[in-house]
Amino acid sequence: MNFTKRILVTGGAGFIGSHLLRLMVEKYPQYQLINGDALTYAGNLENLSDIESAPNYVFEKLDITNAAQVGVIFSKYACTDVIHLAAESHVDRSIENPLAFLTTNIIGTGVLLNQCRQSWNDDKSHLFYHVSTDEVYGSLGETGYFTESTSYDPRSPYSASKASSDHLVRAYYHTFQLPIVISNCSNNYGPNQFPEKLIPLMINNILHEKALPVYGDGTNVRDWLWVGDHASAIDTIFHNGELGETYNVGGDNEMKNIDLVKMLCKLVDKKLGRAEGTSEKTIRFVEDRKGHDHRYAIDASKIKHDLNWTPAVFPIEGFEKTVDWYLENTKWLNNVTSGDYQEYYKKHYT
Ligand code: NAD
Ligand code: DAU
Repeated sequence: MNFTKRILVTGGAGFIGSHLLRLMVEKYPQYQLINGDALTYAGNLENLSDIESAPNYVFEKLDITNAAQVGVIFSKYACTDVIHLAAESHVDRSIENPLAFLTTNIIGTGVLLNQCRQSWNDDKSHLFYHVSTDEVYGSLGETGYFTESTSYDPRSPYSASKASSDHLVRAYYHTFQLPIVISNCSNNYGPNQFPEKLIPLMINNILHEKALPVYGDGTNVRDWLWVGDHASAIDTIFHNGELGETYNVGGDNEMKNIDLVKMLCKLVDKKLGRAEGTSEKTIRFVEDRKGHDHRYAIDASKIKHDLNWTPAVFPIEGFEKTVDWYLENTKWLNNVTSGDYQEYYKKHYT
């Protein structure tokens, strides 16, 4: 088949990447989607089992820090575009082991940029789309919003590595005129998120009647966005974003951590038929995260006005869908918490 685009999606076996791939594989049969993923603890091909035999989808085990491997994929598929999501993504892990974050998030991005420059020469019909985070802007007080012109002020090894990669991407645009676009998104939630992140961790612990660790006093604020809405924003920016531009993506849905955790307790208790208040009793205020950013809040007016994108899923609906998914997919939860999901790769791909 003659595909009109051959898009390398890095990190496609992860949380956001798998939702993006499903959307694009189904919506664009004329594109070939190449999922290049190293399958770290966060990458799980089970997330994509429903599309793995689609004629326009292919998986390639790929470590983006390995220039030779990246070169092979570019030669094999003549990639026309890259949507770059592969990263070490969990802040707590970056505090324990910063170097892994510098390697994957900075060097890995550099390797991809170099390959694109080499393969695409000066042809502007290509696109390197870098998926980044609102954490590059630092921490807000009680008021204000991050806009695209907010100065960078990353404060964790994770956010510093993402900020660094954003700068590299812009440097390739200004120095080499590589066609790029960047988006910086707020906290995503939904199915298939690894249960180290706040929402799935809490649902899993509530399910197993374990303590619910809330960092500090629980007043930190995050702006939550349904993962499918992030995928639709990426689709919109990929097709209509202006070269060299940055777009902030957010859910207009700020919540204090403690309020979010209490809401999850209520939702899960209700679904499991437990007495109201049962799980709330297991909330424990624990030692704060080092350098814990107080508040993130996104001003997404640019993507709304310029590209006509808006979140489609209301938070109440999204949180309920998320809880339902985890309660219905306890096998998935057990697999990823025990490491058994690596078996899926061995069985289906080797
Ligand atoms: P994730 O941790 O769920 O998935 C990351 C994926 O990258 C995994 O499949 C993993 O196997 C892969 N990967 C890691 N190192 C690799 C390497 N060296 N080579 C190839 N693949 C590798 O992450 P996520 O939450 O889906 O985030 C995806 C991207 O979106 C990241 O760049 C992250 O910074 C960004 N982002 C995430 C959020 C969020 O709320 N989760 C918000 C904004 C931006
Ligand atoms: O803002 C976008 C970012 O959101 C992404 O770039 C990151 O990849 C993603 O992991 C996420 O980062 P956070 O640090 O905000 O997400 P996390 O789920 O780890 O934590 C959310 C909030 O909950 C944060 O204030 C810390 C707190 N927390 C987290 C955990 C895991 C707790 O109170 N207890 C916990 O056990």
